[in-house]
Amino acid sequence: MTFDAAMNRYDSIPYRRCGRSGLLLPRISLGLWNNFGDDRDLSVQRDIVLRAFDLGVTHIDLANNYGPPPGSAERNFGKILTSDLHPYRDELIISSKAGFDMWEGPYGEWGSRKYLLASLDQSLSRMGLDYVDIFYSHRFDPDTPLEETMGALAHAIHSGKALYVGISNYDEQQTRRAYDILKDMGVTLLIHQPRYNLFDRRPEDGLFDALVELGVGGIVYSPLAQGLATDRYLNGIPADSRVRTAHWIEEERINDEYLEHARALNDIAIERGQTLAQMALTWTMRHPGVTSALIGASSVAQLEDSLKAAHAEPLTDDELAAIEPHAIHQLVGPWS
Ligand SMILES: NC(=O)c1ccc[n+]([C@@H]2O[C@H](COP(=O)([O-])OP(=O)(O)OC[C@H]3O[C@@H](n4cnc5c(N)ncnc54)[C@H](OP(=O)(O)O)[C@@H]3O)[C@@H](O)[C@H]2O)c1
Repeated sequence: MTFDAAMNRYDSIPYRRCGRSGLLLPRISLGLWNNFGDDRDLSVQRDIVLRAFDLGVTHIDLANNYGPPPGSAERNFGKILTSDLHPYRDELIISSKAGFDMWEGPYGEWGSRKYLLASLDQSLSRMGLDYVDIFYSHRFDPDTPLEETMGALAHAIHSGKALYVGISNYDEQQTRRAYDILKDMGVTLLIHQPRYNLFDRRPEDGLFDALVELGVGGIVYSPLAQGLATDRYLNGIPADSRVRTAHWIEEERINDEYLEHARALNDIAIERGQTLAQMALTWTMRHPGVTSALIGASSVAQLEDSLKAAHAEPLTDDELAAIEPHAIHQLVGPWS
């Protein structure tokens, strides 16, 4: 059936300016890291992506290696673009990244010009696109001169294959250097994508402040701590959950200490009329360095539940104080 986007889609979610750029991003964006590989039903993937678009989520985030297998999320999203979203290309912000292992040999990961530009071409071909809106260096490469990595991003812009560029998983100092190098090349660093959630608070140690100071947007990934900052595991480990179906969260992380804090957070959420997922997003988006929270979803119901956070009342000082003892950095163990 032909897809006709909802007429009221732009009444559904607020947008925020990305740093000091001209680009507005939805307060909540959708990422296709998990749940969009060949291991998942394409019709469910399509339902999630189209529902997100109908609810005003204009930004879809990908990377070369999303799957499984790596590359399949881009291929599957390319199918949805072809079948449904193609007429709406100019209403979409589509991002991809390169940095983690993608193909065999010395040119299939990290930050060389060789890898980044070859990977971008592969991503465009998998998605059937002429350009991505944002192309990221997915991680800092300690062995490649940052000038080379940033030069590859600048080339992506100059060749018309990316409209904007970003970095992900860079620390504060690496971010400042990347910003300066790009600036010298006449390119603005649009955005940084760090992990930030109730149980990973590293960006609070200087990175968010640097982003605000430099006028760089912040889109924070895994704002629901991959499901740990939701009610998903409060009554056992569901068979269809990420803990059971992927290898990113070990079962041992669902321990008594975690459950005690997650239940306390859940009580605070219920008290203010939210689900824990919604409160986790409200908490994440409270920081001025956060332009958008980049969620995942394995169903339309989860997506709809999470998106309600875009309209929630801000947390009061009392609520923030109540959350604080439970928002424990690395409560669920060190993140990779
Ligand atoms: N730059 C990077 O290095 C990097 C790394 C990781 C992620 N990312 C980006 O960030 C995106 C989001 O990451 P993420 O998937 O880890 O995000 P997340 O939003 O923290 O976790 C998503 C998972 O939480 C559960 N969930 C979602 N909504 C829920 C709700 N309302 N109630 C209960 N459970 C809910 C689902 O788990 P179940 O699957 O168990 O149902 C879902 O798969 C990725 O797709 C990717 O675009 C970037």
